[in-house]
This record gives sequence, structure tokens and C-alpha cells, in this order.
Amino acid sequence: MNNFEFFCPTKVLFGKNTISELPKLIDKSHRILMIYGGGSIKKNGVYDQVKKALEGYQLFEFGGIEPNPKYETCMKAVEMIKQENIDFLLAVGGGSTLDGTKFIAAAAKYEGDNAYDAILVREEPVKDALPIADVITLPATGSEMNNGAVISRLATNEKLPFHSDLVFPRFSIIDPQVTFSLPQKQTINGIVDTFVHVMEQYCTYDVNTPLQDDWALGILRTLINEAPKVLAEPNDYEARANIFWCATCGLNYWISLGAVQDWATHMIGHELTAFYGIDHGQSLAIVLPRLLKNQKVSKSKKLAKLAREVFGVNETVDLKAADKAIDNIEEFFNSIGMKTKLSDYEIDSMDAAEKIKDRFNKRNTALGEKGNITAETAFEILKNC
Ligand code: NZQ
Ligand code: ZN
Repeated sequence: MNNFEFFCPTKVLFGKNTISELPKLIDKSHRILMIYGGGSIKKNGVYDQVKKALEGYQLFEFGGIEPNPKYETCMKAVEMIKQENIDFLLAVGGGSTLDGTKFIAAAAKYEGDNAYDAILVREEPVKDALPIADVITLPATGSEMNNGAVISRLATNEKLPFHSDLVFPRFSIIDPQVTFSLPQKQTINGIVDTFVHVMEQYCTYDVNTPLQDDWALGILRTLINEAPKVLAEPNDYEARANIFWCATCGLNYWISLGAVQDWATHMIGHELTAFYGIDHGQSLAIVLPRLLKNQKVSKSKKLAKLAREVFGVNETVDLKAADKAIDNIEEFFNSIGMKTKLSDYEIDSMDAAEKIKDRFNKRNTALGEKGNITAETAFEILKNC
């Protein structure tokens, strides 16, 4: 096992009717900006629950954070924060709303004139940020218990991540009941995103982390068992609760402690979203199977373990078991209604392969746990997508 540090200051309130606990968590002296997305919270009652819980608070609102949150929109919230002297941000929505809020928190305190270049392009360490918290409404990103965010820029078709301990949520409220209203497509996206988060942290090379591996495989098994239940019965509280906790634990980095991480599927997937606008979960479902085939030899031990322990594959030769793991993963995605080919989204694979190769060449990109996924390798992976 490799050395590791672990830090996560987020208080988690999980379960039914936890939104009503808000007053216990935020001091009344704050000038709070409630940040939300395109309006789902107004339809499913979450907005009303938050307003009721925070009655009597100095509460301001900023709506309109898009899926794949845009830098341009976030900067409008920063203006409002400065005008209204806001000192606490409450994200109410999915991962996009929360990621946007993380960036807004850092940009509001950034003293230079281009927060995008500093925080996202040059990845300068964030020196200060407003305190944030969230009511998370979509199980997928794990953003509710991590220090990361991914921001898109319309002007340049870019989608870039940043990390800072200063943007960990102070608290996250997770009431699985709020996910009853999710469109089926978003439920599926979230299940796939969680599955791939686990793969990025588990499916590399073995450095003897059996406990972390078992946690990782436990999340995959739970997803596979619970996914059909929520798809058949969207109001199944127990299944919704289990899926949500899988999502949170899938990216609070607990399963990666002391292990080696990959993240190449995500970085290639982000480019597909940046160029073609497909959902994050969809981009991952397309890239993962082809990336695993391309990297099968170096990942064979972990893939074989996954095949045997998650999919019950009875195959003693690791490379053959690895192939079966990849086939089973793609079949699982398809079985829950997730399409896994670029052509399913009317995207030409050669066009995508060329565009992303060019961009990775310009950035000198080298991805994956061994840094061996270069622009050329990404091209090979994408042309088979
Ligand atoms: O915008 P509203 O109207 O709220 O509707 C949203 C949106 O249209 C809707 N929705 C959310 N909760 C709902 C709901 N509709 C009904 N009922 C509810 N309870 O769902 C749509 C998608 O929401 P979004 O927030 O975009 O989805 P998700 O949570 O999957 O977030 C995706 C973003 O997170 C980033 C992705 O790249 C993408 O930009 N990621 C963030 C990570 C992190 N911070 O650690 C890691 C991930 O790998 C991921 O990259
Ligand atoms: Zn993801």
C-alpha cells in the first residue's frame, strides 16, 4: 500500500426529511446565497423545503446554473455576491450546481482579473474561498463529499477540473426522497458516473490494497443490484438511498487511499462533452469499455478480480477473465438503458478522435496510472468508440 493522507471536513446528514435540519447548521448572522440550477427544485418541492427551513434568514437567490456549469454563468453569481455582501453559499441541486458553487466560492475571493485562467487553466492553488454547503439532489458526482469541481467555458469549448480543500462543503444534506423526481435519464447517468468513479480508482495496477478493493467492488455490486430496482420503481426509498450512498462513497476518495488512480476515461469524456455537449455519464459509458480494452494487459489483474467477484465469471486465465469483465460492464450499462457507442449519439468517431488528439497534443497530455495514454493512444481508443 502506498502512503496516503486523508482529509474530509464535510458533515453529512443523510436520510428522510433532513432538509428541515438546515437551521441547526447555518448561523443566522450569515448573508446566504442559495444557488440552484434550471428549476427542478421548484417542481419537486425542494425549493419550498429550503425556504421554509431558512425562514427569517437573510437569504438571496441565484438560479440558472446549467448542467456542465458554465464559467460565464458562475461569474454572474460572483457579481451578485459582491453587490450583496454575501458570505455563505448554499448549493441546492445536482453536481453541476454544486460544482458551479465551488468555483463561485473561489472566484468570489480571487483578487486577479481572470479567475478562469488562474484556477482552471494554470491550476494555481486557491488561496481563499467563501464557505459553502449543499442540499444535493442527484446521486452521481460525489461532489457533496469531495474538494473537486468541473467547469465548462462556452467561449472556448473547454471543460476543466480544479481541486481545493477550501471548497469542501461544510455540510451536505442528502435526502434520497428528493431523487424520486429524477428523469430516468439522469438516474442512469448517475449510476454510470458512480460506476466509472469506482473504476478510475480501483482498476489500475495492484499495490496490495485488499480492503480498499473490497470496498470498491462492494460499491459496484450494490449498484448492479439496486439499479434495476430504482428503474422499475422510482419511488423505492431503500434503493434510492443505497444508490445515493454509493455515489457519495464512490468519490469521497475513501476507496482510493494508498491505491493508484487512473482518471483517463474522465479526461477523455470531458472532451466529448466539451466538443459535442453529451452528458457526462454518457461520455464515460462510451469511453470506458474501449479504454479498458486498450489497457487490458496492464489492468488485467484488477479486471480479472472484478470479473470473478462482481460478475461471477468462472475463468482462471486473467487476460480472458479481463475480457469478460469489460463485456459484462458494457452489458450492464446497456441493460439499464445507457448507450455506449458514439454513433448512438450521432457523433463520428474519427471526427472525435482527430479533434481530441489535436487538443491533447497541444496540451502535451499523458493520462492514466502509467501516464501512457498520450494523444496518440486517445486517438486509438476514440476511433473504436
Ligand atoms: O438544473 P436543474 O433544473 O436542477 O435540473 C437538473 C439537470 O437538468 C436535473 N436534476 C437534478 N436533480 C434533480 C433533477 N431533476 C429532477 N429531480 C432532481 N432531484 O438533472 C439534470 C442534470 O443535473 P447535473 O447537476 O448536471 O447532473 P450531475 O449531478 O450528474 O452533475 C454533472 C456534472 O458534474 C461533473 C460533471 O463533469 C458534470 O459537469 N462532475 C463533478 C465531479 C466532482 N465534483 O467531483 C466528478 C464527476 O466525475 C463529474 O465530472
Ligand atoms: Zn464523473
